[in-house]
Amino acid sequence: MQDYDKLKNEVLIKIKEANSLDDLENLRVQVLGKKGSITSLMKQLGSLEPDKRREVGQILNSLQKNIIESIDNKKSSLEETYLNKKLKNEALDITLPTRPENIGRIHPLSKTMDEVISIFAQMGFTVAEGPDIESDFYNFTALNIPQEHPARQEHDTFYFNEDENGERKVLRTHTSPVQIRTMEKLKPPLRVIVPGRTYRSDHDATHSPMFHQCEGLVIGDKLNMSHLKGCLIDFCRIFFGVDDLPVRFRPSYFPFTEPSAEVDIGCSRKSGELIIGEGDEWLEILGSGMVNPRVLQNCGLDPNEHQGFAFGMGLERVAMLKYGIPDLRPFFDSDLRWMKHYGFFPFEQTSIHQG
Ligand code: DAH
Repeated sequence: MQDYDKLKNEVLIKIKEANSLDDLENLRVQVLGKKGSITSLMKQLGSLEPDKRREVGQILNSLQKNIIESIDNKKSSLEETYLNKKLKNEALDITLPTRPENIGRIHPLSKTMDEVISIFAQMGFTVAEGPDIESDFYNFTALNIPQEHPARQEHDTFYFNEDENGERKVLRTHTSPVQIRTMEKLKPPLRVIVPGRTYRSDHDATHSPMFHQCEGLVIGDKLNMSHLKGCLIDFCRIFFGVDDLPVRFRPSYFPFTEPSAEVDIGCSRKSGELIIGEGDEWLEILGSGMVNPRVLQNCGLDPNEHQGFAFGMGLERVAMLKYGIPDLRPFFDSDLRWMKHYGFFPFEQTSIHQG
């Protein structure tokens, strides 16, 4: 006859000593599995005398029940220990201060460009584009710029080598060629602005060989100088955020406009500091004029039927004036320290740590 108590004690001790869920599972299989020690004893019951079978059967049943219970208890306690250990190891200290985030900045030029576009968009302008590599025709000839004009000179303009047709393309020296492209493509009335890159052979604190301009073109059938003035006065006042900003139109000359005017805004430069909107000095902001009838004709428009006005401004220049940036060169140096100083946060709310 088996010593069931001894067997029970041995198994209970092993259960108690199991250190892991795996050990415990192995033990369960050894005792209660298909070929487990208690299972085999159960299987032998059939060969016993009926009385003996009942007696041993009861013992084995209670032994099995006991062992199952203690395995279950041990399992719960091992699981709890495991969970506690895991929680402890993976604990997050939510009271720690956040690490400074490095937030990117909007480049002052992008910001300026967005502002200019949105002001003109509110006046009903759409954005037009043209290629950076331009033909002599669009960059000069169609704009009524004569052969001997200084803008065509080698030392101002980046020319490409002659192509197979003997043509020398240029890196566009202004955004004005897009005026021509627009008039060729769209029928009046039209109202476009052309923000984009432009190129000139120039490099100092206020000139970069690559820079940006924004051109404007309005064509209609009853347009005159007062429309030009109203549009540009509104633009200057909104852009610089000064409601009564003095704006002056000074007679000038551009081959593609007649008459032409340069636009100045009032400012003061007391003790070296530039203040826009007060004082009795003037700052040049943009060039403008009524589209020259010859330019209209070059685009197949009848100057007796259509008139228009145009304007062009340097975006870096207005960005520097508006945001008090003294030197143009760092605009394109990709220096993060400069960007941190002059750049803009992408979000209005910036309660996050600023890196
Ligand atoms: N294209 C001229 C420049 O680069 C700027 C300009 C002046 C554009 C007068 C215009 C304009 O459309 O009407 O200096």
